Amino acid sequence: MKQIRIVGGKPLSGKIHIGGAKNSAVALIPATLLANEKCIINNVPNISDRDALLDILKTLNVGFKQQGTTVEVDPSNLANNLISEEQSNKLRASYYFMGVLLARFGYVEMFYPGGCNIGSRPIDLHLKGFEALGAKITHDEKNHKYIVEAKELTGARIKLNFASVGATINIMFAATLAKGTTTIENAAKETEIINIADYLNNMGAKIEGAGTSKIKITGVNELHGTSIEVIPDRIEAGTYILIGALLGQNLQVCGVNTDHITALLNKLNDMNIKYDIEDDVVTISKAKEINPINITTLVYPGFPTDLGQPMSVVLTQANGVSLFEETIWENRMGHVPHLNKMGANIELKDNTHAIIHGPTKLTGCEINATDLRGGAALVLAGLIAEGTTIINNIEYILRGYENIINKLKKVGADIEIIDK
Ligand code: UD1
Repeated sequence: MKQIRIVGGKPLSGKIHIGGAKNSAVALIPATLLANEKCIINNVPNISDRDALLDILKTLNVGFKQQGTTVEVDPSNLANNLISEEQSNKLRASYYFMGVLLARFGYVEMFYPGGCNIGSRPIDLHLKGFEALGAKITHDEKNHKYIVEAKELTGARIKLNFASVGATINIMFAATLAKGTTTIENAAKETEIINIADYLNNMGAKIEGAGTSKIKITGVNELHGTSIEVIPDRIEAGTYILIGALLGQNLQVCGVNTDHITALLNKLNDMNIKYDIEDDVVTISKAKEINPINITTLVYPGFPTDLGQPMSVVLTQANGVSLFEETIWENRMGHVPHLNKMGANIELKDNTHAIIHGPTKLTGCEINATDLRGGAALVLAGLIAEGTTIINNIEYILRGYENIINKLKKVGADIEIIDK
Protein backbone atom coordinates (compact mmCIF):
# COMPACT_ATOMS: atom_id res chain seq x y z
CA MET A 1 0.00 0.00 0.00
CA LYS A 2 1.30 3.43 -0.95
CA GLN A 3 1.26 6.37 1.41
CA ILE A 4 2.32 10.02 1.20
CA ARG A 5 4.82 11.07 3.85
CA ILE A 6 5.32 14.77 4.51
CA VAL A 7 7.64 16.51 6.95
CA GLY A 8 5.95 19.86 7.45
CA GLY A 9 7.08 23.43 7.83
CA LYS A 10 9.38 23.78 4.81
CA PRO A 11 9.22 27.13 2.99
CA LEU A 12 8.40 26.81 -0.71
CA SER A 13 9.98 28.84 -3.48
CA GLY A 14 10.50 28.50 -7.23
CA LYS A 15 8.06 27.65 -9.98
CA ILE A 16 5.14 25.25 -10.13
CA HIS A 17 3.69 24.66 -13.61
CA ILE A 18 -0.02 24.04 -13.89
CA GLY A 19 -1.21 21.19 -16.11
CA GLY A 20 -4.29 20.80 -18.25
CA ALA A 21 -7.68 20.81 -16.55
CA LYS A 22 -8.76 17.40 -15.33
CA ASN A 23 -12.44 18.15 -15.78
CA SER A 24 -11.89 19.21 -19.40
CA ALA A 25 -9.60 16.34 -20.30
CA VAL A 26 -11.96 13.69 -18.94
CA ALA A 27 -14.67 14.95 -21.31
CA LEU A 28 -12.40 15.69 -24.28
CA ILE A 29 -11.09 12.10 -24.43
CA PRO A 30 -14.61 10.60 -24.84
CA ALA A 31 -15.52 13.49 -27.20
CA THR A 32 -13.01 12.24 -29.78
CA LEU A 33 -15.30 9.26 -30.43
CA LEU A 34 -17.89 11.58 -31.96
CA ALA A 35 -15.54 12.12 -34.90
CA ASN A 36 -14.77 9.53 -37.53
CA GLU A 37 -11.14 10.57 -38.02
CA LYS A 38 -7.98 10.99 -35.93
CA CYS A 39 -8.22 13.61 -33.19
CA ILE A 40 -5.47 15.17 -31.11
CA ILE A 41 -5.65 16.55 -27.58
CA ASN A 42 -2.69 18.55 -26.27
CA ASN A 43 -1.88 19.42 -22.65
CA VAL A 44 -3.63 16.36 -21.20
CA PRO A 45 -2.69 16.07 -17.51
CA ASN A 46 -0.77 13.03 -16.32
CA ILE A 47 -3.40 11.74 -13.87
CA SER A 48 -4.80 8.30 -13.24
CA ASP A 49 -8.26 9.36 -14.52
CA ARG A 50 -6.61 9.82 -17.93
CA ASP A 51 -5.30 6.26 -17.83
CA ALA A 52 -8.71 4.92 -16.80
CA LEU A 53 -10.30 6.61 -19.83
CA LEU A 54 -7.61 5.38 -22.22
CA ASP A 55 -8.23 1.87 -20.91
CA ILE A 56 -11.92 2.28 -21.83
CA LEU A 57 -10.86 3.33 -25.36
CA LYS A 58 -9.11 -0.04 -25.73
CA THR A 59 -12.37 -1.82 -24.89
CA LEU A 60 -14.14 0.24 -27.57
CA ASN A 61 -11.54 -0.81 -30.17
CA VAL A 62 -10.25 2.73 -30.45
CA GLY A 63 -6.56 3.20 -31.21
CA PHE A 64 -4.60 5.87 -29.38
CA LYS A 65 -1.08 7.12 -28.87
CA GLN A 66 -0.07 8.93 -25.75
CA GLN A 67 3.21 10.78 -25.68
CA GLY A 68 3.94 13.25 -22.89
CA THR A 69 0.85 15.40 -22.61
CA THR A 70 -0.41 14.70 -26.13
CA VAL A 71 -3.05 12.08 -26.80
CA GLU A 72 -3.90 11.10 -30.37
CA VAL A 73 -7.09 9.10 -30.77
CA ASP A 74 -8.17 7.18 -33.86
CA PRO A 75 -11.86 6.31 -33.57
CA SER A 76 -12.21 4.92 -37.11
CA ASN A 77 -12.73 1.34 -35.84
CA LEU A 78 -14.96 2.33 -32.90
CA ALA A 79 -17.05 -0.62 -31.68
CA ASN A 80 -19.97 -0.39 -29.26
CA ASN A 81 -18.52 -2.96 -26.86
CA LEU A 82 -19.67 -3.12 -23.25
CA ILE A 83 -17.46 -1.11 -20.89
CA SER A 84 -16.95 -3.34 -17.84
CA GLU A 85 -18.44 -2.51 -14.46
CA GLU A 86 -14.93 -2.16 -13.05
CA GLN A 87 -13.92 0.32 -15.76
CA SER A 88 -17.11 2.31 -15.33
CA ASN A 89 -16.71 2.35 -11.59
CA LYS A 90 -13.20 3.72 -11.65
CA LEU A 91 -14.29 7.26 -12.35
CA ARG A 92 -17.26 9.53 -12.59
CA ALA A 93 -16.45 10.72 -16.10
CA SER A 94 -17.16 7.26 -17.55
CA TYR A 95 -20.72 8.63 -17.93
CA TYR A 96 -19.54 10.70 -20.91
CA PHE A 97 -19.36 7.52 -22.98
CA MET A 98 -23.17 7.34 -22.66
CA GLY A 99 -23.77 10.56 -24.58
CA VAL A 100 -21.08 9.78 -27.12
CA LEU A 101 -22.03 6.15 -27.84
CA LEU A 102 -25.72 7.05 -27.92
CA ALA A 103 -24.95 9.69 -30.56
CA ARG A 104 -22.83 7.30 -32.65
CA PHE A 105 -24.85 4.07 -32.35
CA GLY A 106 -28.31 4.97 -31.06
CA TYR A 107 -27.76 2.37 -28.33
CA VAL A 108 -25.61 2.18 -25.21
CA GLU A 109 -25.48 -0.06 -22.17
CA MET A 110 -23.55 1.42 -19.25
CA PHE A 111 -22.82 0.31 -15.71
CA TYR A 112 -23.16 2.99 -13.04
CA PRO A 113 -20.31 5.50 -13.04
CA GLY A 114 -17.97 5.66 -10.02
CA GLY A 115 -15.99 8.56 -8.59
CA CYS A 116 -15.35 10.09 -5.20
CA ASN A 117 -17.82 9.52 -2.43
CA ILE A 118 -18.84 13.16 -1.94
CA GLY A 119 -22.59 12.72 -2.27
CA SER A 120 -25.22 10.49 -3.84
CA ARG A 121 -24.22 11.70 -7.33
CA PRO A 122 -27.32 10.75 -9.36
CA ILE A 123 -27.32 11.08 -13.17
CA ASP A 124 -31.05 11.70 -13.58
CA LEU A 125 -30.46 15.02 -15.38
CA HIS A 126 -28.28 13.31 -17.99
CA LEU A 127 -30.93 10.63 -18.53
CA LYS A 128 -33.81 13.14 -18.70
CA GLY A 129 -31.83 15.05 -21.32
CA PHE A 130 -31.33 11.90 -23.42
CA GLU A 131 -35.05 11.15 -23.03
CA ALA A 132 -35.97 14.63 -24.24
CA LEU A 133 -33.89 13.93 -27.35
CA GLY A 134 -36.03 10.85 -27.99
CA ALA A 135 -34.13 8.07 -26.21
CA LYS A 136 -35.78 5.27 -24.23
CA ILE A 137 -34.09 4.53 -20.90
CA THR A 138 -34.23 1.16 -19.17
CA HIS A 139 -32.83 1.02 -15.67
CA ASP A 140 -31.57 -2.49 -14.97
CA GLU A 141 -31.15 -2.12 -11.21
CA LYS A 142 -30.29 -5.78 -10.69
CA ASN A 143 -27.23 -5.53 -12.93
CA HIS A 144 -26.36 -1.91 -12.01
CA LYS A 145 -26.84 -0.79 -15.60
CA TYR A 146 -28.66 1.72 -17.77
CA ILE A 147 -29.72 0.87 -21.31
CA VAL A 148 -30.31 3.92 -23.46
CA GLU A 149 -31.64 3.51 -26.99
CA ALA A 150 -32.98 5.72 -29.76
CA LYS A 151 -33.76 5.01 -33.41
CA GLU A 152 -33.07 8.66 -34.01
CA LEU A 153 -32.17 11.56 -31.72
CA THR A 154 -34.12 14.74 -32.36
CA GLY A 155 -33.33 18.24 -31.10
CA ALA A 156 -35.37 19.44 -28.13
CA ARG A 157 -35.64 22.24 -25.59
CA ILE A 158 -34.15 21.00 -22.33
CA LYS A 159 -34.28 22.96 -19.11
CA LEU A 160 -32.03 21.59 -16.38
CA ASN A 161 -33.39 22.03 -12.88
CA PHE A 162 -29.78 22.27 -11.66
CA ALA A 163 -26.85 23.62 -13.70
CA SER A 164 -25.03 20.29 -13.74
CA VAL A 165 -21.61 20.25 -15.42
CA GLY A 166 -21.81 16.59 -16.41
CA ALA A 167 -25.39 16.75 -17.70
CA THR A 168 -24.67 19.87 -19.76
CA ILE A 169 -21.69 18.21 -21.45
CA ASN A 170 -23.37 14.83 -21.94
CA ILE A 171 -26.47 16.40 -23.52
CA MET A 172 -24.21 18.52 -25.72
CA PHE A 173 -22.51 15.31 -26.89
CA ALA A 174 -25.78 13.57 -27.74
CA ALA A 175 -27.30 16.67 -29.39
CA THR A 176 -24.30 17.32 -31.63
CA LEU A 177 -25.27 14.51 -34.01
CA ALA A 178 -29.07 14.77 -33.44
CA LYS A 179 -31.54 15.96 -36.06
CA GLY A 180 -32.51 19.61 -35.60
CA THR A 181 -31.80 22.10 -32.85
CA THR A 182 -31.40 21.53 -29.12
CA THR A 183 -31.32 24.24 -26.49
CA ILE A 184 -30.05 23.62 -22.99
CA GLU A 185 -31.41 26.16 -20.54
CA ASN A 186 -29.90 26.66 -17.11
CA ALA A 187 -26.76 25.09 -18.58
CA ALA A 188 -23.62 24.95 -16.44
CA LYS A 189 -21.21 27.81 -17.23
CA GLU A 190 -17.92 26.27 -16.08
CA THR A 191 -14.91 27.23 -18.22
CA GLU A 192 -14.33 23.56 -19.10
CA ILE A 193 -17.62 23.56 -21.00
CA ILE A 194 -16.30 26.26 -23.35
CA ASN A 195 -13.15 24.17 -23.95
CA ILE A 196 -15.28 21.15 -24.89
CA ALA A 197 -17.68 23.13 -27.09
CA ASP A 198 -14.66 24.67 -28.88
CA TYR A 199 -13.35 21.17 -29.58
CA LEU A 200 -16.68 19.98 -30.94
CA ASN A 201 -17.00 23.13 -33.08
CA ASN A 202 -13.48 22.53 -34.44
CA MET A 203 -14.75 19.07 -35.44
CA GLY A 204 -17.63 20.68 -37.34
CA ALA A 205 -20.35 20.84 -34.69
CA LYS A 206 -22.60 23.90 -34.43
CA ILE A 207 -22.70 24.95 -30.79
CA GLU A 208 -23.39 28.50 -29.63
CA GLY A 209 -23.57 29.98 -26.16
CA ALA A 210 -21.18 27.65 -24.26
CA GLY A 211 -20.13 29.46 -21.08
CA THR A 212 -23.58 31.06 -20.75
CA SER A 213 -26.71 29.55 -19.25
CA LYS A 214 -28.27 28.93 -22.68
CA ILE A 215 -26.51 26.66 -25.15
CA LYS A 216 -27.86 26.10 -28.66
CA ILE A 217 -26.75 23.03 -30.59
CA THR A 218 -27.71 22.53 -34.22
CA GLY A 219 -27.21 18.89 -35.12
CA VAL A 220 -24.84 17.91 -37.95
CA ASN A 221 -24.45 14.61 -39.80
CA GLU A 222 -20.85 13.88 -38.94
CA LEU A 223 -17.75 15.29 -37.30
CA HIS A 224 -14.19 15.25 -38.56
CA GLY A 225 -10.73 15.00 -36.99
CA THR A 226 -9.12 18.03 -35.36
CA SER A 227 -7.00 19.11 -32.40
CA ILE A 228 -7.45 21.07 -29.18
CA GLU A 229 -5.40 22.28 -26.21
CA VAL A 230 -6.77 21.51 -22.74
CA ILE A 231 -7.20 24.73 -20.74
CA PRO A 232 -5.12 25.14 -17.55
CA ASP A 233 -6.53 23.43 -14.47
CA ARG A 234 -8.06 26.19 -12.35
CA ILE A 235 -8.48 23.86 -9.36
CA GLU A 236 -4.87 22.69 -9.43
CA ALA A 237 -3.80 26.35 -9.77
CA GLY A 238 -6.02 27.36 -6.85
CA THR A 239 -4.64 24.55 -4.69
CA TYR A 240 -1.01 25.66 -5.23
CA ILE A 241 -1.91 29.32 -4.71
CA LEU A 242 -3.43 28.35 -1.34
CA ILE A 243 -0.27 26.39 -0.52
CA GLY A 244 1.73 29.52 -1.40
CA ALA A 245 -0.38 31.59 1.00
CA LEU A 246 0.69 29.21 3.79
CA LEU A 247 4.34 28.50 2.93
CA GLY A 248 5.42 30.51 -0.12
CA GLN A 249 8.57 32.57 -0.43
CA ASN A 250 7.76 34.20 -3.73
CA LEU A 251 6.31 30.92 -4.91
CA GLN A 252 5.43 31.25 -8.61
CA VAL A 253 2.38 29.38 -9.86
CA CYS A 254 2.82 29.41 -13.64
CA GLY A 255 0.46 28.84 -16.55
CA VAL A 256 -2.68 30.05 -14.76
CA ASN A 257 -5.67 31.59 -16.51
CA THR A 258 -6.39 34.13 -13.76
CA ASP A 259 -9.77 35.00 -15.32
CA HIS A 260 -10.89 31.51 -14.30
CA ILE A 261 -10.07 31.95 -10.60
CA THR A 262 -11.64 35.33 -9.89
CA ALA A 263 -13.79 33.99 -7.05
CA LEU A 264 -10.70 32.59 -5.30
CA LEU A 265 -8.65 35.78 -5.82
CA ASN A 266 -11.51 37.89 -4.41
CA LYS A 267 -11.57 35.72 -1.29
CA LEU A 268 -7.78 36.03 -0.91
CA ASN A 269 -8.23 39.82 -0.98
CA ASP A 270 -10.85 39.56 1.79
CA MET A 271 -8.44 37.39 3.79
CA ASN A 272 -5.66 39.97 3.44
CA ILE A 273 -3.54 37.49 1.50
CA LYS A 274 -1.29 39.32 -0.95
CA TYR A 275 -0.27 38.04 -4.38
CA ASP A 276 1.05 39.44 -7.67
CA ILE A 277 -0.17 38.61 -11.12
CA GLU A 278 1.98 39.02 -14.19
CA ASP A 279 0.63 37.46 -17.37
CA ASP A 280 -0.12 33.85 -16.44
CA VAL A 281 2.04 33.72 -13.30
CA VAL A 282 0.72 34.21 -9.78
CA THR A 283 3.45 34.94 -7.23
CA ILE A 284 2.53 34.42 -3.61
CA SER A 285 4.25 34.36 -0.23
CA LYS A 286 3.26 33.18 3.24
CA ALA A 287 0.59 35.56 4.56
CA LYS A 288 1.42 37.33 7.84
CA GLU A 289 -2.09 37.81 9.22
CA ILE A 290 -5.03 35.96 7.68
CA ASN A 291 -8.52 37.37 8.17
CA PRO A 292 -11.29 34.85 8.85
CA ILE A 293 -14.04 34.77 6.18
CA ASN A 294 -17.17 32.93 5.14
CA ILE A 295 -17.00 30.62 2.14
CA THR A 296 -20.08 29.35 0.34
CA THR A 297 -19.38 27.09 -2.63
CA LEU A 298 -21.45 27.79 -5.72
CA VAL A 299 -21.65 26.92 -9.40
CA TYR A 300 -19.24 28.84 -11.67
CA PRO A 301 -18.40 31.73 -11.51
CA GLY A 302 -18.99 31.36 -7.74
CA PHE A 303 -16.43 29.90 -5.33
CA PRO A 304 -15.70 26.39 -6.67
CA THR A 305 -16.77 23.42 -4.61
CA ASP A 306 -13.49 21.73 -5.59
CA LEU A 307 -11.49 24.40 -3.70
CA GLY A 308 -13.64 24.46 -0.56
CA GLN A 309 -11.72 21.70 1.21
CA PRO A 310 -8.21 23.09 0.48
CA MET A 311 -9.45 26.54 1.54
CA SER A 312 -10.73 25.11 4.83
CA VAL A 313 -7.11 24.28 5.75
CA VAL A 314 -6.02 27.88 5.15
CA LEU A 315 -8.88 29.02 7.39
CA THR A 316 -7.47 26.94 10.27
CA GLN A 317 -4.64 29.53 10.21
CA ALA A 318 -6.92 32.63 10.14
CA ASN A 319 -7.26 34.89 13.17
CA GLY A 320 -10.82 34.14 14.24
CA VAL A 321 -13.90 32.19 13.25
CA SER A 322 -14.74 31.30 9.63
CA LEU A 323 -17.78 29.55 8.20
CA PHE A 324 -17.43 27.04 5.37
CA GLU A 325 -20.69 26.15 3.65
CA GLU A 326 -20.86 23.54 0.87
CA THR A 327 -23.90 23.82 -1.40
CA ILE A 328 -23.13 21.51 -4.34
CA TRP A 329 -22.38 18.15 -2.71
CA GLU A 330 -23.92 16.59 0.41
CA ASN A 331 -20.76 15.00 1.67
CA ARG A 332 -17.72 17.23 1.35
CA MET A 333 -16.60 17.33 4.96
CA GLY A 334 -14.90 13.92 5.15
CA HIS A 335 -11.53 15.58 5.65
CA VAL A 336 -12.63 17.49 8.75
CA PRO A 337 -12.14 14.74 11.39
CA HIS A 338 -8.63 14.21 10.01
CA LEU A 339 -7.79 17.92 10.29
CA ASN A 340 -9.12 17.88 13.85
CA LYS A 341 -6.93 14.87 14.61
CA MET A 342 -3.99 17.07 13.56
CA GLY A 343 -5.05 19.80 15.99
CA ALA A 344 -7.53 21.91 13.99
CA ASN A 345 -10.62 23.18 15.77
CA ILE A 346 -13.44 22.65 13.29
CA GLU A 347 -17.02 22.11 14.42
CA LEU A 348 -19.27 20.29 12.00
CA LYS A 349 -22.80 21.69 12.34
CA ASP A 350 -23.99 19.14 9.78
CA ASN A 351 -22.64 17.53 6.58
CA THR A 352 -22.48 20.84 4.73
CA HIS A 353 -21.61 23.48 7.36
CA ALA A 354 -18.34 23.77 9.24
CA ILE A 355 -17.26 26.41 11.73
CA ILE A 356 -13.51 26.82 11.67
CA HIS A 357 -11.82 28.34 14.73
CA GLY A 358 -8.36 29.71 13.98
CA PRO A 359 -5.53 29.97 14.34
CA THR A 360 -4.56 26.46 15.39
CA LYS A 361 -1.23 24.69 15.31
CA LEU A 362 -1.34 21.46 13.30
CA THR A 363 0.78 18.46 14.22
CA GLY A 364 1.65 15.58 11.90
CA CYS A 365 0.00 12.17 12.38
CA GLU A 366 -1.46 9.35 10.27
CA ILE A 367 -4.63 10.35 8.40
CA ASN A 368 -6.81 9.07 5.55
CA ALA A 369 -7.77 10.80 2.31
CA THR A 370 -11.51 10.38 1.83
CA ASP A 371 -11.87 11.94 -1.64
CA LEU A 372 -9.79 13.79 -4.24
CA ARG A 373 -10.04 17.39 -3.03
CA GLY A 374 -10.27 16.35 0.60
CA GLY A 375 -7.03 14.45 0.02
CA ALA A 376 -5.42 17.60 -1.41
CA ALA A 377 -6.58 19.44 1.72
CA LEU A 378 -4.72 16.89 3.85
CA VAL A 379 -1.56 17.49 1.78
CA LEU A 380 -1.87 21.21 2.58
CA ALA A 381 -2.30 20.35 6.25
CA GLY A 382 0.73 18.04 6.22
CA LEU A 383 2.86 20.73 4.58
CA ILE A 384 2.17 23.21 7.40
CA ALA A 385 2.09 20.73 10.27
CA GLU A 386 4.87 20.28 12.77
CA GLY A 387 6.50 16.87 12.34
CA THR A 388 5.60 14.01 10.03
CA THR A 389 2.23 13.38 8.42
CA ILE A 390 1.36 10.08 6.77
CA ILE A 391 -1.60 10.07 4.36
CA ASN A 392 -3.38 6.83 3.40
CA ASN A 393 -5.70 6.20 0.41
CA ILE A 394 -3.54 8.38 -1.80
CA GLU A 395 -5.06 6.98 -5.01
CA TYR A 396 -7.79 9.60 -4.57
CA ILE A 397 -5.21 12.38 -4.81
CA LEU A 398 -3.35 10.86 -7.77
CA ARG A 399 -6.61 10.66 -9.72
CA GLY A 400 -6.65 14.41 -10.20
CA TYR A 401 -3.33 16.12 -9.34
CA GLU A 402 -0.60 15.51 -11.89
CA ASN A 403 2.88 14.83 -10.49
CA ILE A 404 1.88 16.42 -7.20
CA ILE A 405 4.81 14.93 -5.31
CA ASN A 406 7.45 16.10 -7.80
CA LYS A 407 5.88 19.52 -8.25
CA LEU A 408 6.00 20.12 -4.48
CA LYS A 409 9.44 18.54 -4.02
CA LYS A 410 10.90 20.81 -6.69
CA VAL A 411 9.88 23.92 -4.76
CA GLY A 412 11.29 22.67 -1.46
CA ALA A 413 8.67 20.44 0.19
CA ASP A 414 9.78 17.36 2.10
CA ILE A 415 7.24 14.98 0.57
CA GLU A 416 7.44 11.48 -0.89
CA ILE A 417 5.44 8.39 -1.69
CA ILE A 418 6.39 5.45 0.51
CA ASP A 419 5.37 1.79 0.71
CA LYS A 420 3.67 0.82 3.93
C1 UD1 B 1 -18.20 18.13 -12.01
C2 UD1 B 1 -16.74 18.00 -11.68
C3 UD1 B 1 -16.51 18.04 -10.17
C4 UD1 B 1 -17.17 19.27 -9.56
C5 UD1 B 1 -18.61 19.39 -10.01
C6 UD1 B 1 -19.25 20.69 -9.56
C7 UD1 B 1 -16.05 16.58 -13.51
C8 UD1 B 1 -15.53 15.25 -13.94
N1 UD1 B 1 -16.26 16.72 -12.20
O1 UD1 B 1 -18.84 16.97 -11.47
O2 UD1 B 1 -15.11 18.09 -9.95
O3 UD1 B 1 -17.15 19.16 -8.15
O4 UD1 B 1 -18.70 19.34 -11.44
O5 UD1 B 1 -18.51 21.77 -10.01
O6 UD1 B 1 -16.19 17.50 -14.31
N2 UD1 B 1 -26.82 16.23 -9.93
C9 UD1 B 1 -28.06 15.64 -9.95
N3 UD1 B 1 -28.43 14.94 -11.05
C10 UD1 B 1 -27.63 14.80 -12.15
C11 UD1 B 1 -26.35 15.41 -12.12
C12 UD1 B 1 -25.96 16.11 -11.00
O7 UD1 B 1 -28.82 15.74 -8.99
O8 UD1 B 1 -28.02 14.17 -13.13
C13 UD1 B 1 -26.39 16.98 -8.73
C14 UD1 B 1 -25.20 16.30 -8.06
O9 UD1 B 1 -25.62 15.28 -7.18
C15 UD1 B 1 -24.56 17.47 -7.34
C16 UD1 B 1 -24.79 18.63 -8.29
O10 UD1 B 1 -25.89 18.23 -9.12
O11 UD1 B 1 -25.22 17.71 -6.13
C17 UD1 B 1 -23.59 19.00 -9.14
O12 UD1 B 1 -23.28 17.97 -10.01
P1 UD1 B 1 -22.55 18.18 -11.41
O13 UD1 B 1 -22.42 19.62 -11.73
O14 UD1 B 1 -23.24 17.30 -12.39
O15 UD1 B 1 -21.14 17.58 -11.10
P2 UD1 B 1 -20.30 16.58 -11.95
O16 UD1 B 1 -20.43 16.92 -13.40
O17 UD1 B 1 -20.53 15.16 -11.55
